[in-house]
Amino acid sequence: MAELADAIVLFGATGDLARRMVLPSLYFLDADGLLPVGLKILATARSAMSREAFVDHVKAILDARPEDIDDGVWARFADRLDYVACDATSVDGAAELCPRLAARRPIFFLAVSPSLYGRIAGALDGAGLAGPESRIVLEKPIGRDLESSREVNRAVGAVFSEDRIFRIDHYLGKETVQNLIALRFANTLFEPLWNNLTIDHVQITVAETEGVGERWPYYDEYGALRDMLQNHMLQLLCFVAMEPPADMEPDSVRNEKVKVLRSLRRYTRQDAQNWSVRGQYAAGVVGGKEAAGYETERGQPSGTETFVALRVDIDNWRWAGVPFFLRTGKRLPKRRTQIGIQFKPVPHSIFGAQANDDLIANRLVIDLQPDEDIELLLMNKRPGIAEHGGVRLQSLPLSLSLLRAYEGPGARRRIAYERLILDVMHGNSTLFVRRDEVEEAWRWIDGVADAWAQAGMTPKRYDAGAWGPSGAFALIERSERAWLD
Ligand code: BG6
Repeated sequence: MAELADAIVLFGATGDLARRMVLPSLYFLDADGLLPVGLKILATARSAMSREAFVDHVKAILDARPEDIDDGVWARFADRLDYVACDATSVDGAAELCPRLAARRPIFFLAVSPSLYGRIAGALDGAGLAGPESRIVLEKPIGRDLESSREVNRAVGAVFSEDRIFRIDHYLGKETVQNLIALRFANTLFEPLWNNLTIDHVQITVAETEGVGERWPYYDEYGALRDMLQNHMLQLLCFVAMEPPADMEPDSVRNEKVKVLRSLRRYTRQDAQNWSVRGQYAAGVVGGKEAAGYETERGQPSGTETFVALRVDIDNWRWAGVPFFLRTGKRLPKRRTQIGIQFKPVPHSIFGAQANDDLIANRLVIDLQPDEDIELLLMNKRPGIAEHGGVRLQSLPLSLSLLRAYEGPGARRRIAYERLILDVMHGNSTLFVRRDEVEEAWRWIDGVADAWAQAGMTPKRYDAGAWGPSGAFALIERSERAWLD
């Protein structure tokens, strides 16, 4: 069992990720009594700032949130905070942190541009800070393709051993994603049915109403394929498709995920044309409000996709012949992250013509956000007597509404980072992405990008507020299925 960390060094402490996710998560962990006594939070960034000014900055961040901030917890939390200005990409800069970290077991949390990961790791090493009890946390994106991700992994791996590198995919910190593991492996009910004998196809949708806005300098280089598919969506696919691991040990789970990634059928030029759609939002209306097009936000024409839909085939025994349809986009009509497992129809109906029209194959729908819910759609007999005798059927959901089931007074939805930060503190990397996993995901994604290039596929326009270009519907209809909207 790894030793508990007793310092968190937050790089990029004045940036967006620190403000939205990391600092609030740390506060809420403290509020729940989950931060070890004596844990210090050493914030660092290039800009000069006093400790007091940083503490005020954090207080303002927390006050701007909808949750109540408790004075007692805040006093304890503020006491943990410290700030040092430094350029952490140089050894001299990193050395500025040394006096504050003497005899500590630090976590280096890099909330900075990924282009700095290698240099910061090298500087920490040069300053003598990367001892065997230190850990490093990296955010996505790890590279932009297989080659560049290898470079980042090589540079960081030259300093930190793999068990001390925690690559965050914040989707793995989401309650419902972890619940997917419980659903599959803590019930006897689903696993025998979880294969190509019973499942017709799987759909994974990550729909956002937000546009790219001011993030375009980053986004324009990545697009939806690299920003969402390579990481969050392939992770969801892995959790749905992986074989049962022997236990929840990091390598047991990650070995199974890597096997899935290796089984993904590589895209050819022909597949790209038949089974994928790239889109980019134009001006439109989302949620009753006018929204600008991507190119207006970007200020000039762009070939970057803000929408992707594609069919993925997994070439192994369990999933042969079961297509997975993945779809993600910005400026879509609704915010929704959903996994749909569509079962096959019953092999033979005994109910007669009229009831047959009502027969709908079972479906398991896992909503990850904004609502957290799991619904199993089952066929029932409609109550009462049918007009001409016989029975009429209807599909009804068996629902496990997670928030309602666990909602107590004052319950709040945790930020995904809370769980992940706690796991880093305890040295548990089950919910983090291993090096070979990142690289396998890139290998497959590079194949899709190459196939797009060979096929000369540029993004098709869709109006903001639509479910992507019309091709996204044609894609799934071509295999005689439909999106579960
Ligand atoms: C990030 C992407 O990783 O995930 C963003 O870079 C995206 O483009 C975000 O908006 C979505 O996260 P969530 O938790 O809001 O679904």
